[in-house]
Amino acid sequence: MSVLSGKKILLGISAGIAAYKTASLVRLFIKSGAEVKVIMTPASKDFITPLTLSTLSKNPVSSVFYDKKEENELWNNHVDLGLWADLMLVAPATANTLSKMANGTCDNLLLATYLSAKCPVYFAPAMDLDMYKHPSTKNSFKKLQSFNNVMIPATSGELASGLVGEGRMAEPQHMVSFIEKDLLSKLPLKGKKLLITAGPTYEAIDPVRFIGNHSSGKMGFEIAKAAANLGAEVSLISGPSNQQIQHALIHRIDVNSAEEMYTSVHDCFDEVDIAILSAAVADYRPKNVAQQKIKKTVAALEIELEPTKDILASLGAIKKQQFLVGFALETENELENAKGKLQRKNLDMIVLNSLQDKGAGFATDTNKITIIDRSSKEISFELKSKAAVAKDIISEILKRIA
Ligand code: CTP
Repeated sequence: MSVLSGKKILLGISAGIAAYKTASLVRLFIKSGAEVKVIMTPASKDFITPLTLSTLSKNPVSSVFYDKKEENELWNNHVDLGLWADLMLVAPATANTLSKMANGTCDNLLLATYLSAKCPVYFAPAMDLDMYKHPSTKNSFKKLQSFNNVMIPATSGELASGLVGEGRMAEPQHMVSFIEKDLLSKLPLKGKKLLITAGPTYEAIDPVRFIGNHSSGKMGFEIAKAAANLGAEVSLISGPSNQQIQHALIHRIDVNSAEEMYTSVHDCFDEVDIAILSAAVADYRPKNVAQQKIKKTVAALEIELEPTKDILASLGAIKKQQFLVGFALETENELENAKGKLQRKNLDMIVLNSLQDKGAGFATDTNKITIIDRSSKEISFELKSKAAVAKDIISEILKRIA
């Protein structure tokens, strides 16, 4: 999956002949799973039509603050567009547009949106070789780079003027790969190793029966996805679960029992930077597992149970550099119990969900959590999808490991 998947991309087109290549650029972005909106300088419409770009992007194309010819004039809000974007790319970026961007000139919608954008900005220059070499243009590049804007350098080749040299806008496929690589290298969990436990455990009674619980594994899988999307290498150790996951950075290890989960977790723990234990591990297991199926009789059946190993507590006892996160599912005295677990198990952070909250806990698509850290700081979140909760958990961890 591309790092661009789900990203909102604002493509700013200025008036260069290379604008015709933006049609395939939009298609490549869409193919990588991104959503694209296009803004154009008025003059760029001589090189490619807004209709082509709106058809390919499946979004309206804007080039002016408002259209005087329209009966119902609508203000194209550059601030909204700037805030909407996860990243902005100006391509082709002409010498004129680059100079205006570098100097804060704001005489068209593209430039106003650029000044309003808080997201990463990339620019792909396209111009004739002498313009590209001119100290004034070089100055624009330098100035924009000092604003943390990223330049996708032009390549050498035949130019519209017929001259050969540097100034050709990078090819669309190269621009997409360049941005993907750049984003990946800047992901906040890049180079970090995470261990996540998820799902229930099954404790065998006999060859066909077990003690289990209703955990679906969804919360842990969403955390794995959120972490991997931020560049982490994830070992996801899961009890029996129907959840599916496909991600180049997630290595799934399936286990059944608490004992198997304990062994797998300890095999990985030394090497990880962050461990998040969201599994609903059975606290007890049958002391003796019958070798054959237990036959029904009229007599009552008693199964003696013994405690399983507390995986989380065992990690708290040996942790070194690792940031250790546990979960607490409570039905009463929630905060007090969660704080007690944080201390007892030597955690850095605990995620509390209460079964008192509607929509929280097992087998739902939503969750409502409170996060507590070692300083006893409590942060309560609204009821959200488990995917959004996973992002909250990861972002709270990031604040504490930075
Ligand atoms: N946990 C674990 N190993 C166990 C039991 C629990 O790793 N054998 C982890 C869970 O993954 C979770 C945390 O411990 O992160 C809290 O589990 P919970 O069952 O709520 O806490 P317990 O310590 O078992 O306390 P109690 O059941 O009394 O609430």
